Order: sequence, then structure tokens, then C-alpha cells
Amino acid sequence: MKLGVNIDHIAVLREARKINDPSPIDALGIVARAGADQITIHLREDRRHIHDEDAEQIVRLSPLPVNLECSIDEEIIEIVCRLRPHRATLVPERREEVTTEGGLDIFKYEDRTIAAIEKLHANEIEVSLFIDPDLETITRADALGAEWIELHTGSYANIHAMLHSNLPRTHHSVKALELPRHTLKTKLEESLETIRSAADHAATLGLRVAAGHGLNYRNVAEIVKIDAIEELNIGQSIIARSVFTGLKEAVEEMVNLLKR
Ligand code: PXP
Repeated sequence: MKLGVNIDHIAVLREARKINDPSPIDALGIVARAGADQITIHLREDRRHIHDEDAEQIVRLSPLPVNLECSIDEEIIEIVCRLRPHRATLVPERREEVTTEGGLDIFKYEDRTIAAIEKLHANEIEVSLFIDPDLETITRADALGAEWIELHTGSYANIHAMLHSNLPRTHHSVKALELPRHTLKTKLEESLETIRSAADHAATLGLRVAAGHGLNYRNVAEIVKIDAIEELNIGQSIIARSVFTGLKEAVEEMVNLLKR
């Protein structure tokens, strides 16, 4: 299982002071040496963490392939086309959200998604669609010509956190802690089965499958068992752990958990 490390939160820390420390650029070599396979960043429309200059330098200097997450906004897609990362992952974006909530609605935004995919392909950038683990959506993602999908694992991660309620919440929307344990266990199994069958369906169609959102050192093992998933993109939990262990150790620990 390959690991993409999302380094946005290094820029989040920098933005807390609006200075140039810590620099996400300094993470590139450390993440690569710790055995990760990819650098993932999100160039948000509101530039709340990664800025255009960061993205430009990361694409230019990263020893690992760069997966650039972005919205389907025309201006953003133009910037991504200029930057030419290895891959662009199209995600939904709402300014008021804390983090990406839910997958991209490729039915509602079909025309804009197609336009974005065409532009990215014309610039030799492979495309991934960050979508919910839903069979119909996956079939459409394939029809739209994406090479990859990334399955949103937030729902699984939330239920896992509810079941192990002594753990940190993975998402601010976790509020159903009063659900009985056996209900949560069933829900957790169901959410895993949804991800498993979504990944299998995508692989049968010939899509390459990544997954991410809310994955951490405690909930990742069950996802690693799903053979059709080739890659995980993980940010929050790795950067959070790195505050205590250092980035190299935090990445190495996750790389070890992803070994099959
Ligand atoms: N994948 C995508 C498409 C995302 O938008 C994010 C969050 O930026 C992640 C993975 C990483 O999620 P987390 O920070 O919860 O590990």
C-alpha cells in the first residue's frame, strides 16, 4: 500500500503566525527519506494554508510525485495546469468548511468536472476524483475519463472514533456518541463493506483506487486489508504525531502500518 503524505498542516502552523516557519518545503526530503511514496497538497481557493508559491516550489523540488488536490474552479485548474504536478485530485470545496466534507458531486457538477479533466489531460496531468464510496458515482467517474478515484473514508473514520470514544474525534461532525456499542460495531462493519465493494467495483472498471480522509494510526489497518486500494493519502494524524515524535518517525510508523 502506497502512502501519500498530506503536508498542508505544516503550512497551517506557519499561517498561525503568518511568517515563513515552519516551511512545507523542508518536509519534502524528510517525508521521502522516511519511505513515503507521494507528497499531497491542497491548493484551496481561500489559500488558507498552501499558497501558490508553496505549490510551485513543492512541484519543482519534491523528490516524490506530487498529488495536488484542488477544486474544479476554472482559475484554480489553470494554475494547476501551469504547475504540472504528477496528479490532480478534484475535490469539493466550501469556504466555511473545516476540512473537505464528502466527495465531489460529479453528477451535479458534471460539465465543470469534464472541463477540468479535459484541461488537465491536455497538460499531461493524471486525474483523480475524490468521491464517496458509491457504485453509481464510481461508474460515472470512469465514464468521465479519470485515471484514479480517491474514496472518501471520513464516514468510516467517524464511526471508528465513535466506537473508541476515548480517541480524538476525526471530524467536528461526530456527535452520535450516545449510539449503543453494538449499533456502532454494525455500522463500522457496514462502512468498511461499502468501501470494500466500492474499491472492487472501481478496480473491475480499470480505475486505480486511492482512499483517504480521517485515517490514523488506529483505524488504518482495516483499510490496508482492502486489496483493490493501492494508495492512502493521510495528513492530520501524521502531522499531529510529528509534533511529538518528529516528522521522520511519524511517517515511518505509518509506512510500517501500510505494509501488506
Ligand atoms: N484526501 C483528500 C482528497 C483530502 O481532501 C484530505 C484532506 O485534505 C486528505 C486525503 C487527508 O485527510 P486527513 O488530513 O484527514 O488525513
